Amino acid sequence: MQKDIVVSGIRSTGFLHLGNYFGAIHNYIKMQNDYNCYFFVADYHSLTTHPDPKDLKQNVFRVAAENIASGLDPDKVSLYAQSDVPEITELYLMLNMLAYKGELEKVPTFKDKVRQNPDNVNAGLLTYPVLMAADILIHRAVKVPVGKDQEQHLEMARNFGNRFNQRYNVDLFPEPHVYRFDEQTVKIMSLDGNGKMSKSENQNATIYLNDEAETIRKKMMKAKTDSGPTEPNSAMPDYIKNLFDLMDLVSEKDTAALFREQFNSCSIRYGDFKKQLAEDMIRFVDPIRIEALELQKDEERLRKILKSGAERARESAVQTLTAARKAIGINYY
Ligand code: TYM
Repeated sequence: MQKDIVVSGIRSTGFLHLGNYFGAIHNYIKMQNDYNCYFFVADYHSLTTHPDPKDLKQNVFRVAAENIASGLDPDKVSLYAQSDVPEITELYLMLNMLAYKGELEKVPTFKDKVRQNPDNVNAGLLTYPVLMAADILIHRAVKVPVGKDQEQHLEMARNFGNRFNQRYNVDLFPEPHVYRFDEQTVKIMSLDGNGKMSKSENQNATIYLNDEAETIRKKMMKAKTDSGPTEPNSAMPDYIKNLFDLMDLVSEKDTAALFREQFNSCSIRYGDFKKQLAEDMIRFVDPIRIEALELQKDEERLRKILKSGAERARESAVQTLTAARKAIGINYY
């Protein structure tokens, strides 16, 4: 039986953090044995914010290294840089003809960016979901492991694929759907309780996969808490629940159970709770950080991995693109 096709990508802006890990990478690792996986570094997507050309390569290699250090096996999956697969950009152009200004302007992530950076509302930002659809549809993927923040983009990818099929009367693109193992881990909140953990915003409230032990301790101690519950079995405020969620992800089961019991009986001391969480977090992050640093020193190895990943990705991409060109009528010779 043919394995289902899986696609997902991570932008090469900023350092990867626990949100990226639990929202995406840990699903990649669980899927790599059972599916035909294409995972990539979305370097074209990062261009919307005009990164310094000097930094680009290092950013791409770092994201690749952090994925591998987290447990992704480049022999089992195709790991590549988006810009190494030019078929994606050609499909992007085709899909752009089927994407309407009105629907793109309504996308919440676009509206957020406009609000955050009113001086840089470029067309790439507007058509960001179209490029993302091209990333997915180019391999005719059906499963896309992403965090909750990307759900709307997936819906658009389905729309664009269906629109292409209907317009050209073909059955080229299957519908891609968000895929994940457990509901709990889809959105990791920022430690200050304001929104999701993110690569660029509130860095002191974000735990990065390359944070050293002392940095993690400091950030954890600053995590938002309050004076504690006064009624037994109270509902947890969101920012406390987020810390417990993190504890469920990185600590032993017994540890989380013990602190939950203390919360429910109003005897929890948040200082101790955060200290414990910091140490467990360090135990989790440290091996990834160290391995990723080692890998980044071996540029030759990373280059080989990305090159061979791109070769495999292109084999699949060329097939889809040939069919898409034919469907449109671009087969003149
Ligand atoms: P990016 O680079 O912002 O994030 C990469 C992945 O991490 C997930 N994520 C989170 N999950 C839970 N909690 C958080 N706080 C958190 N922050 C980030 C994201 O959901 C994502 O899965 N547009 C995409 C990259 C992309 C892509 C694609 C993804 C480009 N083409 C095709 C899938 C398929 C992005 O900017 O992700």
